Parts: sequence; C-alpha cells; structure tokens
Amino acid sequence: MALDEMIAVANAMVAPGKGILAADESTGTIKKRLDSISVECTEHNRRAYRELLFRTEGIGDYISGVILFDETIRQSAEDGTPLVAILKDAGVIPGIKVDAGAKPLAGAPGEKVTEGLDGLRDRLAEYYDMGARFAKWRAVIDIGAGIPSSYSIDANTHALARYAALCQEASIVPIVEPEVIMDGSHTVDRCQEVTEATLMALYKALFEQRVVLEGTILKPNMVVSGSDCAEQAGVEEVAERTIACFNRTVPSAVPGICFLSGGQSEEEATAHLNAMNAGGPLPWELSFSYGRALQASALKAWGGQPENVQRAQAAFHHRAQMNSRARSGDYNPAAEQKAA
Ligand code: 13P
Repeated sequence: MALDEMIAVANAMVAPGKGILAADESTGTIKKRLDSISVECTEHNRRAYRELLFRTEGIGDYISGVILFDETIRQSAEDGTPLVAILKDAGVIPGIKVDAGAKPLAGAPGEKVTEGLDGLRDRLAEYYDMGARFAKWRAVIDIGAGIPSSYSIDANTHALARYAALCQEASIVPIVEPEVIMDGSHTVDRCQEVTEATLMALYKALFEQRVVLEGTILKPNMVVSGSDCAEQAGVEEVAERTIACFNRTVPSAVPGICFLSGGQSEEEATAHLNAMNAGGPLPWELSFSYGRALQASALKAWGGQPENVQRAQAAFHHRAQMNSRARSGDYNPAAEQKAA
C-alpha cells in the first residue's frame, strides 16, 4: 500500500473550501430521482445528467472529489471524452461506490447489513486502474422499536472495516459511511445515543482490522431529530450535539468528516455545516459529501431539457459555493435570496 499517497488524497478530499459530490446513486435510486422530473431512466439520460454536473464551469473551486457509480465510471460524454477525464481536467478526484447495497440481516427482523465484500479485492484493483483514488461503502442503521441491536451495529461496522482494509491494500482511500437513518419519530437524544454507539463500534473495528485512520474519511449522519418527531432540534442544537458526539468517538487522526445529507433540505444541510464550522477550531476538517443537498435544485432546473443545462449548472454551482462557504462558517442565508 502507498500510505503517503493515500494520506495526501484524503487531505486533498477535505482541502479548505472544498467538499465531495455524491453522484453514485444506484440505478434504482437515480430512477427515483429522474421519475421526480418525469424523465425516463435510460442509460443516455443518466449520462446526460451526470455530464451536466461534471462539466459545470468552476466545479473544481468547490468540489474536491465526486463519488461515481460503476456504470458512470465507465461512461463517456456525448463528445466521446471519458467522464473520468472531464473530472480530472477540472481538478476533481474520481471516487467509486463499491458496496452492493443494504440487504435484510438474517435473524434480525427490520435490520439490514451491507453486502459487497466478495470479489472486492479484484474490483478495487480495476477501479484504481480506471482512475479512482477513493471509494465509498454505506452501512444503514435504522432506529425503531427495539432497534438497532448491537448485533446489527457489530455486523455493519465489521463489514465497513473489512472494506476499509481492502481499500488501503489497493492504495484507495476508504470513505466509511455508517448512516443512522433519520426516518422515524425518534428524538434527537435517541439519534445521538445510536450515532455514538455506532461510531464507537466503528473505530474499534477499524483498529482491530489495522486500518490506518490518517488515510480514511468518515461520512456520517448529523445528530438530528427523527423526521416524524414532533419536536425538531434547531440548527444550534444539531451543531452542538453533532460535535459533542464526534468529540467523544472520532479520533483526531482522522483527517476529515464529510457529512451525508440524508433527507435534509439543501438549505438545512448548509446551515448545519456552517453552524458547526462557525463554533471554533476542531480536531478534523468538517466538510460535506452531499447527494440530494447538492443536486435537488439542479435536477429540478434541468427537467431533462437540453435548453435548461446552463440553468441547472448555475443551480449546482450555487449550492456548491454555499457549502464551500459553510466550511469556514462564512455562509449567510441572505445569499440564497439574492441567487433566487
Ligand atoms: P445524501 O446526501 O442524499 O444522503 O446522499 C449521500 C450519500 O452518498 C448517501 O450514501
């Protein structure tokens, strides 16, 4: 393994003012997104949409890396340029989702475990040759009556650590993503308790499996109220609880923490990140790796129409710029009104 190279990549992924675009929706998930704008989910349309995002002028000012799906890393733009080459030319590091999705966990009704370890060593070598320098694996932890069990937390964090160790063997930076899902009526207290337990188990598993933390990135949920909880925590409370949770569980050897948005609105996700970074110095870079919270407006503005490409790119550029400001606590919601 090339440790120096991985550490350099991990630090570049969380360079000041920059964050990650998660554009690695599986075919099923991108179908849902395209359905929402009444666009047919064909390979051509999936490529057209991703090409639009990657060709946005100035993307490299705010975006350090893009997480791709297997289909996308192999695709070329309309004019024949490989999509990976477009990203590299813009100064953006290509990454790849390598998990095979969350499936029911045997013996644990209502809980899931992420699959995809079989053959992973060979796939990582192929992705490295194709230009990927980091990867992503997402574990799903649901909150509900009597769940999560410690069995499901252990099964998921063990798999995350096995994936991370294989990535580092292949000189690829692992993004480790244990997502505590916000769906449900649970309180913010319960989210914090489950997120802390999950992160404690994760860092124990990474240690046991000899993963070098300096060459990893954490992609967690924020500590928020369940989406159906009657009492919603405000921006300051989310920021305080999330930082407290990480101070207790995430070693300072980890170079950066890049949040998922998980169903938050674009502006909520930016405001939360901003509040956390406005609070003073932290042991790790605190950044974003948003999917929906970087793409929602752009997707809507595009609507599948070639004449809307520039409007969609402007919407994506704006979101990326707002989140870039939130990296240093310089985001001001008034900038949203002006852009609108
Ligand atoms: P969201 O920001 O839409 O949650 O997506 C991020 C992601 O990559 C989830 O795995």
